[in-house]
Amino acid sequence: MIQKHYFTTFQNHSQSLVKKKFIFVNMKIENITCIGAGYVGGPTMAVIALKCPEIKVTVVDLNKERIDLWNDEDLSKLPIYEPGLADIVKQTRGKNLFFSTEIDKSIKQSEMIFISVNTPTKTYGEGKGQASDLKFIELCARQIAKSAESDKIVVEKSTLPVRTAEVITKILKSSKKGLNFEILSNPEFLAEGTAITDLLYADRVLIGGDSTQNGQKSIKALVDIYKNWISDEKILTTNVWSSELSKLVANAFLAQRVSSINSISALCEKSGADIDEVAKAIGMDSRIGSKFLKSSVGFGGSCFQKDILNLVYISKSLGLTEVSEYWHQVIKMNDYQKNRFSSIIIKSLFNTVSDKKITLLGWSFKKDTNDTRESAAIYIADKLIENKALVSIYDPKVSEKQIYNDINYLKTRSSSDNKKHLNVHKNVYDACENSHAIAILTEWDEFTKLDWGKIFSTVVSPAKVFDGRNLLDNQKLEKIGFEVFSIGK
Ligand code: NAD
Ligand code: UGA
Repeated sequence: MIQKHYFTTFQNHSQSLVKKKFIFVNMKIENITCIGAGYVGGPTMAVIALKCPEIKVTVVDLNKERIDLWNDEDLSKLPIYEPGLADIVKQTRGKNLFFSTEIDKSIKQSEMIFISVNTPTKTYGEGKGQASDLKFIELCARQIAKSAESDKIVVEKSTLPVRTAEVITKILKSSKKGLNFEILSNPEFLAEGTAITDLLYADRVLIGGDSTQNGQKSIKALVDIYKNWISDEKILTTNVWSSELSKLVANAFLAQRVSSINSISALCEKSGADIDEVAKAIGMDSRIGSKFLKSSVGFGGSCFQKDILNLVYISKSLGLTEVSEYWHQVIKMNDYQKNRFSSIIIKSLFNTVSDKKITLLGWSFKKDTNDTRESAAIYIADKLIENKALVSIYDPKVSEKQIYNDINYLKTRSSSDNKKHLNVHKNVYDACENSHAIAILTEWDEFTKLDWGKIFSTVVSPAKVFDGRNLLDNQKLEKIGFEVFSIGK
C-alpha cells in the first residue's frame, strides 16, 4: 500500500515536471488562452480557431456581460459588429473556440497566452494625456505569474510602447516558481470593418522574439500557427523591440497620410482645386500610392491618436524633441479638421445654430463597425450642442445608449442637458425631418441609396447637406435642390 502510494506520488510528480517543461521540449501548442475579448481578441482568436482546428482556443475577459454576448445563441448579439465574424463564430464556437470568465483556469491549461487587453492613453499622473496606460497589461502579467503551473509562451497582441516586454518579463520572473516564460511581440494590424479579411489575407504577420534558444523555439511555435493560412514570405520575424516599435510606426504613418490629405483639403476649398482630383493625381505615383488618401472629417478610432501620442511621449522622454513635435502635428491637424467641419456648418447657417435641428448621419468612426471610440462625430456633435443646436442622430449599427455614453463621457455639460439637445433615431427619414442641415459623418453605404428627394421635401429651406466623407453625388443632390458642401471642394 505504502509502496503503491509512493509510486503514484512519484509518477504524478514526474509527470507534472514533464508537463511543466513540456513547451520548450516539443513545442506543440494545443491550448491557447487570449486575455481580452474585444475588437482584437474576438476576431483574431476566431480566425485562429477556424484555421487551426486541432488547437483549443479560449478567449477570457473580466467583463461578464461581454463574454455572455460572445456566448449568446443569437449571433446578431455578438458584442462587436464585423462583417464575416458571426459566420466564423458559428463554425467554431463550442468546437474549439470558447469564451469564458474563468481566467485562472484557462491560463493553467494553456501553453500559449495572448494578451489582447486595452492600452488606452493615461488619464492621470505621470504621462497623463500621452503615455499608454499599462495597468491592464500589468494586471495580466501578474495574473499569469500567479496562476501558471507550467512554462508559458506569452504573446503581446495589444499595441504597446517599445520595451514593454521588459516589464512583463520582470513581473513574470518575480513569480519564483522556477517556470520559464518567453515573451513574444505579435502586434495586430487589422482594421475594423475589414478585420476578418485583414486576418485571413494579412499583408504580413510580425513576430518579435529573443535570440536565445527558447526565444527562437517560441517564435517557431507561433510561426507554425500562422503557417496554417499565411505564406512563409509574409511572416516576418524580428527582435522584440523592432516588433513593438513597428506597430506604433505603422499607425503613425497611416494617420499621417490622413492628416496630410486633410490639410490639403482646406487648401483646396480656398483655391478652387478638388481634393479627390488631387488625391487621384498624386496617388497614381507608385511611390506615393493611392490608399489612405480619402479626405474626411478627421480620423477616429481607438488607436491612431493613442498610438501617436504614445510615440510623441516616448520620443520626448528620450530627449528627441523635434521627433516628438513632428508627430504631434499629425494629431493637431486632425483636431483642426474636426473643428473646421463644425465651424463650416455653423457659419453656413448664418452664424447661429441655436435651436436649429442638425442631423448627423453616422456616429461610428468608420463604416462597417459599431465602434465609436474617438469618432469625429462625437466632437462635432459636442461643438454643435455647445452652440445650442438640437442634434439628431442616425447610425445603422450604434445603439442609443452608446451615443449618450460617448457624449456624456466628454463632460462638457450635464447628461440632462445632453438629453435636451440630442435625439437618436432608428429611422433615417425621421432623423432628417425638419432639419436645417444634414451632415454625413460616417461613409455607410446605405447613405448613398437614400431617397434624397423624399428627404428634401421634409427639411427646412434652404436645404443643406454637409458631406464630411465626399460620399454623395453632389450633382444629383444639387439637382434636387440641396446646397451641398463637400470637404476639399
Ligand atoms: P477592447 O477594449 O475592445 O478589448 C479589451 C478587452 O480586454 C475588454 O473587453 C476588457 O474587459 C478586457 N480586459 C482588460 N483588462 C483585463 C484583464 N486584466 N483581464 C481580462 N480581461 C481584461 O480593446 P481592443 O480594441 O480589442 O484593443 C486591444 C489592443 O489591441 C489595444 O492595445 C489596441 O491598441 C490593439 N489594437 C486594436 C485594434 C482595433 O482595431 N481595435 C487593432 C490593432 C491593435
Ligand atoms: C487602423 C489601422 O488601419 C490598422 O492597421 C491598425 O491595426 C488599427 O488602426 C489599430 O491599431 O487599431 P482602424 O482604426 O480600425 O485601423 O481603421 P482605419 O481604416 O485605419 O481608419 C481609421 C480612421 O481614419 C477612420 O476614422 C477612417 O475613416 C479614417 N480614414 C482612413 C480617413 O479619413 N481617410 C482614409 O483615407 C483612411
